[in-house]
Amino acid sequence: MTEPTLQPFSWKDRPAVIEHLFPVQKISAESFKEQSAVHGKTLTALGSYWKGRKPLFLNKACILGCLMPTSDNPLRDLEIFELLMGMDERSLAVRHGRIHPDDVARRVPGLTVSQWFEANVPIDLPEETPFAVGELSYEDPKTGKAKRVRLKWQDAVSDADRLTLEARALPFPDYKSNINKAKRCEELGDAPHAHIWKEVNAHLGTSAHSFPELVEQMGVARFGHRPKVADVFCGSGQIPFEAARLGCDVYASDLNPIACMLTWGAFNIVGAAPEKRAELEREQQRLAAKVQAEIDALGVEEDGDGWRAKVFLYCVEVLCPQSGWRVPLLPTLIISKGYRVVAELMVPTKLIPQTISSLPTHPTATRSNTKKSPNFSSPGCVKIRRKNLPTGPGTADVLWRSRERMTISADP
Ligand SMILES: C[S@@+](CC[C@H](N)C(=O)[O-])C[C@H]1O[C@@H](n2cnc3c(N)ncnc32)[C@H](O)[C@@H]1O
Repeated sequence: MTEPTLQPFSWKDRPAVIEHLFPVQKISAESFKEQSAVHGKTLTALGSYWKGRKPLFLNKACILGCLMPTSDNPLRDLEIFELLMGMDERSLAVRHGRIHPDDVARRVPGLTVSQWFEANVPIDLPEETPFAVGELSYEDPKTGKAKRVRLKWQDAVSDADRLTLEARALPFPDYKSNINKAKRCEELGDAPHAHIWKEVNAHLGTSAHSFPELVEQMGVARFGHRPKVADVFCGSGQIPFEAARLGCDVYASDLNPIACMLTWGAFNIVGAAPEKRAELEREQQRLAAKVQAEIDALGVEEDGDGWRAKVFLYCVEVLCPQSGWRVPLLPTLIISKGYRVVAELMVPTKLIPQTISSLPTHPTATRSNTKKSPNFSSPGCVKIRRKNLPTGPGTADVLWRSRERMTISADP
C-alpha cells in the first residue's frame, strides 16, 4: 500500500471536476462504443435483457469526476481527467495496439530520421519525416531479390518517447474514428494507464499507481476515508460494480428482486476470482448438458434431418373461405436481413385441404448446421431458407413476391 501524501479533509471544500468540466462528446462516444460491444461487454452475460444499464465507462467518469478536485488550471484538470479515463492520445495509441514506426514516419512531420529510426536493410533513408516507407525499394545484392523496407525504433529511444510519437500518429484526425478502431480500456487491463501515474500524482499530490490507490487517497482527502458509493436503485448493478472496481466501498439495493439478483451476480459471478469463475463455468456446462440431454430425449427441437431449432416463431392463421386452407398472417416473410433468412410458404405435400385443420404448427427454425443443407424445411408448410435479400427499395419487391407466392401456395 502506497503512503498517501494528502491530509484527510484537505480537499473538503474544493469543487469537484464534474461541477466544472465534463468532456461530454468523448465520454458519449466511449459509452456508445461500450454499449455497441453487445456480448463483449463486461456484465452482458448477466441479464442482457435488462434495458436500463448505464455504461461502465460513464459510471467511471462520474465517480472520478466527483472525487477529483478542480485547480486553478482547468486545462490541465481536463488533461489529467482524460488521462484517468484513457481518453488521451497516448492511451489511444496503446488501445490501437501501438502504432508502427512506418506509420509514425509517414504521419508525423519534422522528425530527424537518424535520431529515431533505423531500417531493416542497409538503405539510405530520407533525413527528415514525413516519408512513405512503402515507396522505398531495396534489392538484396546477394540474391537480387527485392526486399520490403521496414522501419524500427532506434534502441536508444525510450518506450515513453515512442509512445509520445505514436500518439501524434493516430490513424484518424477525429476522436470518434480513432476509438472505433481501438479497444476499450477495460479490455486491456492496466496497459492504457501505465503512463499516467507520474503526471496524475504530480497534479493531484497523490502517490498512486492504480485506481484503488488513487480513489482511496482522493476519498481520504475529500471525506477522511475511502469513498462509499450507495446506489439504492441499482438495477443491474452497473454503478456499484464499477465503483467497487475502482476501489470504493459500495452499497446497493433495489425494490426488484431480479435487479438484486443481477447485482449479486455482477459481484459474485462476473467479479469472482478466476478459480471461482472456472468452477462456476464447469458447473454451468454440466447443467446445460443435463438439460440438453432431457430436451434431446423429448425430440422436440430437431426435425430428424439434423436441423435443430434455435427459435420458434408463431403467427395467427386464418381459414381461406375458398380453398379451406389455413393461411399464416405474417407481416413479413423476412426472418433476418443480417443472416439473409426468409420464410417461404409451401404447399404441404402430404396434406389435402379437408385435413388442413390437422396441420402441424409451424416451428420456424434457424439452421444449426450450415454445412449440411442450404435450406431448412419445417414439418408444416413454411420453409426457412437463405437468399440474397436486396436492400433499400428492392425489399418491397421481395415482400410483394412473397405474398404472391403465399397466394399461389394457398390455392390447392
Ligand atoms: C433505471 S433502473 C436503474 C438502472 C441501473 N442504474 C443500471 O445501470 O442498470 C431504476 C431501478 O430503480 C428501482 N426502483 C424504483 N423505485 C424504487 C424504490 N422505491 N426503491 C428501490 N428501488 C426502486 C427499479 O426496480 C429499477 O431497477
